[in-house]
Amino acid sequence: MQGCNRSQKIAICTVGLPARGKTYISRKLNRYFNWLGYKSRVFINGNYRREICGTECNSLFFDPHNEEAQKARSDCAKMALQDLIQFLKNGGDVGILDGTNITKERRHQIENELKSSFNGIQTLWIESICNDSKVIQNNIRLTKINNPDYCNMNSEQATIDFLNRIKMYEQIYETITDDENLSYIKTMNVGADIIVHQVFGFLLSKIVSFIMNLHTYPRPIYLSRHGESQYNVDDRVGGDSDLSQLGEMYADKLADFFYQEFPTKEIKNDIIFLTSTMRRAVHTSDVVAQKLEIQPLQLKTLDEINVGICDGMTYTEIAQKFPNDFQERKINKLGYRYPRGESYLDLISRIEPVIFEIERSRQPVMIIAHQAILRCLYAYFHQNEIPEVPTLDIPLHCVIKLTPAAYFCDEKRVLINPQTGEISIKEEYVQEFVRSKSKQKSFIDL
Ligand code: F6P
Repeated sequence: MQGCNRSQKIAICTVGLPARGKTYISRKLNRYFNWLGYKSRVFINGNYRREICGTECNSLFFDPHNEEAQKARSDCAKMALQDLIQFLKNGGDVGILDGTNITKERRHQIENELKSSFNGIQTLWIESICNDSKVIQNNIRLTKINNPDYCNMNSEQATIDFLNRIKMYEQIYETITDDENLSYIKTMNVGADIIVHQVFGFLLSKIVSFIMNLHTYPRPIYLSRHGESQYNVDDRVGGDSDLSQLGEMYADKLADFFYQEFPTKEIKNDIIFLTSTMRRAVHTSDVVAQKLEIQPLQLKTLDEINVGICDGMTYTEIAQKFPNDFQERKINKLGYRYPRGESYLDLISRIEPVIFEIERSRQPVMIIAHQAILRCLYAYFHQNEIPEVPTLDIPLHCVIKLTPAAYFCDEKRVLINPQTGEISIKEEYVQEFVRSKSKQKSFIDL
């Protein structure tokens, strides 16, 4: 996909002291690649260490003079690297090694091992440097003290031990220097400064801009389909019909909903409000815009999937007129491209710049768009497997509020009755969030 040579293997290795956001960066990149359709996986050194050496390792275990522990940690790191290499050999595209890798010697061992395992592998090193003690403390609080390493300590003890652990690493930390001849990105204080050295190629340059836009500000992202359209009533695809009467009612109620979500003028002025150029979305957005006194940005990128020769037909008509196509789409809805139209994979490529825009924004984001487009956007944040994308449930008259956090994405679904304005929360999605949160937790904390 995306103009990249798929036989090209990519290894991304993190560098940095503990609590510098390496896992955050690794997970973000992993999600991004998987969403783009690459086979990507993260290999976390710490997980191997916990599995092999157990979880009750206090800061003394990380003392560089503790030879026995050093040997055990080095063996774990080698296992992680070997698993990454095996993953790439078995068809993986991008392997991400999430570890501290703070010495030149270690980096050279890894670089050599990767080069001798693959012809022409691209290795990118990402070093995260942070000297803002508030950010570090916050990171420890959010992601470390609930870690199984600290299951027998209270949060104060855990924080002290973790800070001591960092001191152990500081004794031998060597930042990446140009004489190491590595391709690297150095990001300082969560993207405040970035150094890029010898980073070439299509995909690696994308990583640079992805890293430049990362931040951890919690802000909500609201997704809503337009109000019911005339084509929705007739069950027709494509076209550019306007809202039905019910759709107009939804637009009014949606405006009321957002008015309550953003009570002050300051917050309203901060909102990034995006919509498509299609009549039904523009109409819905205009009603919201009027009430909130803000302007939506109309993006062609957010227009609904182009259904090509099936434009204006009902699904029954498509099945009758183009039975082979209908069947083909049923079998492979993700990859099926409507003749002279688009597939879901095309949509993912199309909306990639919108993902960058959302990632970049530190303000609330409101998007009023279409079913297929929102499926693709939602899948990115919710980390759905790519084959699930075309069947995700994105109903009419429902606002999906996503709040991405460091390691998971909070979700709330609000159903709005277009006639009465009555609001109800879809409980199963709240539970789904709790489930996916615990699923992800076990992944980091294994
Ligand atoms: O039916 C509404 C709609 O937005 C159509 O315009 C579009 O073709 C369709 O949904 C996409 O959904 P699916 O991929 O399930 O056909």
